[in-house]
Amino acid sequence: MPDDVVTMDKIVSLCKRRGFIFPSSEIYGGLGSSYDYGHYGVLLKTNVKGQWWRSMLQEREDVVALDSAIIQHPKTWEASGHLAGFTDPLVDCRTCKLRFRADRLEDARCGRKPSKHPGETSECDLTEARDFNLMFQTTVGPIKEEGATVYLRPETAQGIFLNFKHYLQFSRKKPPFGIAQIGKSFRNEITPGNFVFRTREFEQMEMEFFVPPDEAQRWFEHWVAERLDWYIRLGIRADHLRLRPHEQDELSHYSSATSDVEYDFPIGWSELEGIANRGDFDLRAHAEHSGQKLEYVDTASGARYVPHVIEPAAGADRATLAFLVDAYDEDEIEGEARTVLRLHPLIAPIKVAVLPLVKKDGQPELAREIYRDLRERVQAEYDEGGAIGRRYRRQDEIGTPWAVTVDHQSLEDRTVTLRDRDRLAQERIAIGDLADELERRLRAPWRSPKETAAEPS
Ligand code: GAP
Repeated sequence: MPDDVVTMDKIVSLCKRRGFIFPSSEIYGGLGSSYDYGHYGVLLKTNVKGQWWRSMLQEREDVVALDSAIIQHPKTWEASGHLAGFTDPLVDCRTCKLRFRADRLEDARCGRKPSKHPGETSECDLTEARDFNLMFQTTVGPIKEEGATVYLRPETAQGIFLNFKHYLQFSRKKPPFGIAQIGKSFRNEITPGNFVFRTREFEQMEMEFFVPPDEAQRWFEHWVAERLDWYIRLGIRADHLRLRPHEQDELSHYSSATSDVEYDFPIGWSELEGIANRGDFDLRAHAEHSGQKLEYVDTASGARYVPHVIEPAAGADRATLAFLVDAYDEDEIEGEARTVLRLHPLIAPIKVAVLPLVKKDGQPELAREIYRDLRERVQAEYDEGGAIGRRYRRQDEIGTPWAVTVDHQSLEDRTVTLRDRDRLAQERIAIGDLADELERRLRAPWRSPKETAAEPS
């Protein structure tokens, strides 16, 4: 099985065809790099976020949850350094009127001659680079007066720092402990692109882990390993993931060390998630700007300190894209081409499809009865329209790991066939055992069939 049949174009096309993700406001011609998630996209991204929450909240006892406001007090961004420093260098081309990131010219195409990079042709006329702040501004209240300017948050992290004091009071946690949140962030990216890889509106999954200063390095290493392992546990092929420590000159203003988890996308190795050692930068900055004490006081010893922070910061859309890319495959069944998403069952939008073989002889009625039972336990779908082969193909394309087929025998002995998306095996199973069997399979360890197929036999 060739490893690299996937391209970004194939992912974009499948996402549109099957209603995962498509351009937003298309009836008005679209708004570049703005996307809507359809039914299966919502289910898929919800599963990605659900697994992240699970790994943070359910599988550990030292992380608690938060959902903070998108619009924060504007001083937040003064303290965090975003107002002064959250900028990208921007250049305009006076000839083609396009704008580019000055530090990414080698990734951009000239507006007149797309085979060239901006600045490479004699006609290119680039301005000097100037700093462009990526935060979206808006106004609170009906009058655009001074003092009412606010910003859409460019990261969810700051909402966590603003609430640190509350959490010390009510969460009964003390360092080391973390606060996790998922939510939308906004950045007026100069060059968004590559589908949902870089957009101006996106969801982040961030956790700030507060630790005693002398434990920071140990926790940094813990979270780097933990986050890499999360993607592998959910079926992303290990040889398509890597860690890349940042060089000193690429560290953010708040970070003393950062390692990126990178995925080998069709556009090349790119950041999925960053794990940063933010030190005490944020708590000290907010303490200074707010006049509040943001420190931990040990009631037993009286010792006080400003905790250091380890931050795993992931993108929900980027992770969703990585799951799609990693799962995309093509093969042949009985001479017919098939596109299949080999998603980990926990990530797959639909876990089981229930299909009557024919739309008569009591089969639809029994299939609906099974569907109603199964959907109590797992995300299920009922489909009775069209030839059975076409219905299997449709479920393969949206990544459904199992299909239950009701046939004439089902009405006689209350058994059905259970089809496996990857092995294509069909086993006969009693209707009464179905739900338990599906839940057992969902919990079983799983490896991508693309990975095992690539191994030497
Ligand atoms: N609080 C730290 C922070 O925001 P970041 O590396 O700028 O760090 C974290 O963002 C993650 O958010 C990235 O690794 C990426 O997955 C996602 N992300 C950032 N900008 C994005 C964009 N414009 N579109 C989609 N995802 C983005």
